Amino acid sequence: MNPSLITTTEAVDRVFLYIFGISVILLLAITAVMVWFVIKYHRTRQPQPQPSPRYNLWLETAWTVIPTLIVLSMFWYGWQGYTTLRDVPENALDVRVTGRKWVWSFTYPNGRTSDILVVPVGRPIRLDITSEDVLHSFFIPAFRIKRDAVPGMHTFEWFVASEPGTYDAFCAEYCGVGHAKMITTVAAKPDQDFEEWYEQEPSGEADGHEEGRQLLASHGCTGCHSLDGAKMVGPTLLGIFGREVTVTTNGVERSLTVDREYLERSILRPRVDLVKGYPPVMPPNAGLSPEDLEEIVEYLQELR
Ligand code: CUA
Repeated sequence: MNPSLITTTEAVDRVFLYIFGISVILLLAITAVMVWFVIKYHRTRQPQPQPSPRYNLWLETAWTVIPTLIVLSMFWYGWQGYTTLRDVPENALDVRVTGRKWVWSFTYPNGRTSDILVVPVGRPIRLDITSEDVLHSFFIPAFRIKRDAVPGMHTFEWFVASEPGTYDAFCAEYCGVGHAKMITTVAAKPDQDFEEWYEQEPSGEADGHEEGRQLLASHGCTGCHSLDGAKMVGPTLLGIFGREVTVTTNGVERSLTVDREYLERSILRPRVDLVKGYPPVMPPNAGLSPEDLEEIVEYLQELR
């Protein structure tokens, strides 16, 4: 790792500690003087009011100039921190981050997709952030970075993981009923482990099941539908094929058995037949390729 590289964590912590340090010093100094004055000017010691100067040029100048310099130095430090956060190092690895109700997905330069953010230790990562639906915000507290994900727009932030490990990444902008579940992991791996993961084709040697699961994750389905029977924002996908469901179609309730046709229709246009007891929040998936749709339906048919 480039030793002169200031990480985003260092850049933000410096400013934080500087401002925090000054605040602590001022708090202690002001409190000490206050206590001292309370004792010194107590009624028992000073029964008569003391004359006080009406005007003192030096004092007035000092308490104007010194705080101005302190505040300007805070600004200067803050500005430097900000430019560090906005100046992406040249050798950064570009990863596309897509926010979607209610899941994050990551796309790498070689086309690899993932639902967790895997990164090599010591290499700067540039995140190209966007959203497919509403405002989200990609937030990694460990690296002190947070940036809005805006539909129709690309924002960016960068960070470098100095140590291997796993870190939490959150959505920091309220985006609806599943907001609190919009959490993922940043996994920082040593170079070799990362390369191994990066080169691995998720759909290559992996079996059909793995591929179906990956597709569900990368299209954001698993943000709301569990694969293990748990009830989330939407119904679980475990054993969905052949399930008897009550749906509302055009305002009329009816019962049906989940088959291929129903699955395809509900993936592409989820609100046509809305399953009773669930909110009408699933976005349509008009952009899904026929191959992916086929793959997902195949997978769901066997998920039991
Ligand atoms: Cu996405 Cu909150």
